[in-house]
Amino acid sequence: MTESHAEAITFPFGRPDPFTPPERLASLREERPVTRMTYPDGRVGWLVTSYPAVRSILADPRFSSRRELLNIPVPFPLMQEMRRPADPGMFIRMDPPDHTRYRRLLTAQFTVRRMKQLEPRIHEITEERLDAMEKAGPPQDLVREFALPIPSLVICELLGVPYSDREEFQQTTAVLLNLESAVEDIRAAVARVAAFFARLIELKRAEPADDLLSGLVTGGELTDEELGNIGFLLLVAGHETTANMLGLGTFALLQHPDQLAALRADPSLIDNTVEELLRYLSIIHIGPIRAALEDVEVDGELIRAGEVVTLSVQAANRDPARFTDPDRLDITHPASGHLTFGHGLHQCLGQQLARVEMRTAFPMLFDRFPDLRLAIPAQEVRMRDTMSIYGVRELPVRW
Ligand code: HEM
Repeated sequence: MTESHAEAITFPFGRPDPFTPPERLASLREERPVTRMTYPDGRVGWLVTSYPAVRSILADPRFSSRRELLNIPVPFPLMQEMRRPADPGMFIRMDPPDHTRYRRLLTAQFTVRRMKQLEPRIHEITEERLDAMEKAGPPQDLVREFALPIPSLVICELLGVPYSDREEFQQTTAVLLNLESAVEDIRAAVARVAAFFARLIELKRAEPADDLLSGLVTGGELTDEELGNIGFLLLVAGHETTANMLGLGTFALLQHPDQLAALRADPSLIDNTVEELLRYLSIIHIGPIRAALEDVEVDGELIRAGEVVTLSVQAANRDPARFTDPDRLDITHPASGHLTFGHGLHQCLGQQLARVEMRTAFPMLFDRFPDLRLAIPAQEVRMRDTMSIYGVRELPVRW
C-alpha cells in the first residue's frame, strides 16, 4: 500500500495532439491505476485511471457526490464557494436519499415519448442553423454557429421556453459558457438566468403546456427554488457537453477522413460513430469526482474516509484491457461500454437526448457541406485544455 505523500503527483496535462490524452495517464494506468494526487489547495487525494477501478468506484455507494465533500484537481477560482452543500434541486452533487427523490421526478419527465417528440424539432433546429451558415457564407466558426446553438435550442424545447424569449436566453447562456467571460459577467449572467427561470416557472404555472418544466410544476412536489435550480442544472449539464461533442466530434471526423468516408458510404454506422466519438473523445476529461465516506480498499490501495478521488474517464475509455486498439478512432468497431456518460446512480439523465442530437446533427452537417474543411491549419485550432469539459474553443470552417 502507498503511504508516502511525497509520491503524490499532480493532475497530468499536456496532450501530444488534440485527440490523445496526456501520456502520463496511460503510464499511470499501467503502473499504478489508483495513485496519490495533490489537489491545488494542497490536500492529497487520488487519481484513478483504469477502466475496472473507475467503473467500480462509480457504482460504489461508499463514494459520495456531495458537493461540500469534493475538491477539484485543477485551479478553480470559485472553489471556496463550492465547499457548501448543493443548492436545493442540484441533485448531481447529492447522495441518496435526496438524490433519489429528484432523480425519480426527473426520470418521469425524460420519457421515451417526449424524446421522440423532440426528434423532428432537433431536425428543424439543425436545418435552421445550417441555412444560417450557408446564407452568411464561409468561413464560419462552427462552435458559435452550430455546436453551441443546437443544444441550447433543444433545451429551450425541452423546458418549453417561449420563442419570444429564446434570443435573450441564448445570449445569456453564451456569456455563461464563454471561457473568456469575466467572473463578474458570469455572476451577472447567472443572476439573469435565475430571474429568467423564475419568470418561466410562473408562466408554466399559469399556462402549463406539454413540456418538462410544466410537468414538474404541475406535479406540485417541488418549490420554485428547486424548480429554478433544476432548470439551471439541465441547462449547464446538457448544453456545454453536447456542444463540445459536436465541435470536437466534427474536428475529429475532419482529421480522420477515412472514418468520415466510411460513414458517408454507410449512413447506418451513425449510431456506432456517435458511441465511438463519445469513447474516443471523452470530453469529461477531468472527472467525475467523488469523496470516500469510509475507508475503502481499491486495487490494493487504501482510500481513507474523506479523501477525494478523481476518476479519469478519458484514461478508462482508452484502457486496452477493455477496448481493442483504444487509441484508434474506428467507427466500425463496437464502442459500447464507454464511461463518457458516467455510470451508477448519477449516470447521465440526458444521454438519450444527447445521442439524438448528435445522430441528427453530424449527418446533416456533412450532407449540407460535402466539402466541409478547416479554415485554419489543424495545429492552430485552440483547445479547451484546462476546462472541465474538453473540446475546441472555436472551429473555423469553409465549404
Ligand atoms: C454528450 C453530452 C453529455 C455528456 C458527455 C454528459 C455526461 C454526463 C456525466 C459524465 C454525468 C455524470 C456525472 C457524475 O457522475 O458526477 C452526467 C450527469 C447528468 N447529465 Fe449529462 N451529459 C451529456 C448531455 C446531457 C444532456 C443533453 C442533459 C439534459 C438535457 C444532461 C443532463 C444530466 C443530468 C441532469 C445529470 C445528473 C444526473 C444525476 O446526478 O443523477 N446531460 N452527464
